[in-house]
Amino acid sequence: MKNSSFLYDFFKKGNISNENLKLLLETEDFNEILFKLAKIKRNEHHKNYVNLRGLIEFTNNCENNCYYCGIRKSSKIFRYRLSKKEILKCCEKADKQGIKTFVLQGGQDPNYKDEELCQIIREIKENFKDCTITLSIGEKSKKSYESFFKAGARRFLLRQETASSSHYEMLHPKNMSLKNRKNCLFTLKEIGFKVGAGFLVNSPHQTTNNIIKDLNFLKELNPFMIGIGPFIPQKQTPFKNHKAGSFKLTVKLISILRLMFPFAMIPSTTSLNTLKEENSLKISLDAGANVLMPNMTPKKYQIHYNLYDNKPIRTNKTIKSLKKKLYTMGYKFKVYENILQKN
Ligand code: 5AD
Repeated sequence: MKNSSFLYDFFKKGNISNENLKLLLETEDFNEILFKLAKIKRNEHHKNYVNLRGLIEFTNNCENNCYYCGIRKSSKIFRYRLSKKEILKCCEKADKQGIKTFVLQGGQDPNYKDEELCQIIREIKENFKDCTITLSIGEKSKKSYESFFKAGARRFLLRQETASSSHYEMLHPKNMSLKNRKNCLFTLKEIGFKVGAGFLVNSPHQTTNNIIKDLNFLKELNPFMIGIGPFIPQKQTPFKNHKAGSFKLTVKLISILRLMFPFAMIPSTTSLNTLKEENSLKISLDAGANVLMPNMTPKKYQIHYNLYDNKPIRTNKTIKSLKKKLYTMGYKFKVYENILQKN
């Protein structure tokens, strides 16, 4: 077995060679030290805090046909769009629980006009003065992104899904390109958004080298947030017969990301916690995750936002018990981060 000194170097500098990344990803020899170091790094920069974001799945309409996703254009599902009033209600629900960051997530919905969304953003900001608005609505023009920023949105989540163009083509139809996705991410950054990127773990046809490319791309982008989660098959998609991603590999990647990006916001994602591994939440937080995104979408809509099979339905009650659960794991909520950051 190779000497583990390279890991201490990685811990100190945040950099690691592709060769050593491959070793970490393809063997289990260094897991224990890796997790230990990632936990130390997490504590150094984030103590035992967990940042909460209220997820609002405001539309499941989508013009894209990504092969892995359950709300892809071809899926025969009930399509919905929340009204402005309903969105504001979700924000209120989050706000009441001390959650100050709202994530408006949706499919790439071509019928949502920019002005309509800008109006919603402005009203949220008027009603919840100390809130931060994060958008997660896919690829749009620079002009659209600028208008959302002007209206008051400050963060944007757009996973690259895979940073290898040949792999990207295996996951998406021809009208989509990695080039455009990357352009969107750099444009968002240029406008002033804090951006979030990330990738699917064990998506069909993914190789270790693909993952290494993702990590290198993230180094280049240097995002504020990084969301990764295991691929989970959805029965209406072309990938319905592919197997779900590995819990172990996802957690390992969270630790690698924590060492590469000490300051980043890294969520313990819903898909990771859908795999039903015992203690998945504690394991992922210990591995370096520092964000949770409780779902604020009304239950009657959540059931139709089925990106993958068995996606859990969250209610207010489960958020309360989640709070308790976190305390027993030795973690606490950080709610006033936004006020301090003056967003
Ligand atoms: N399994 C896991 N994650 C998925 N997503 C979409 N479909 C799936 C799936 N089948 C993720 C994508 C997207 C995010 C909102 O949901 O990575 O960026």
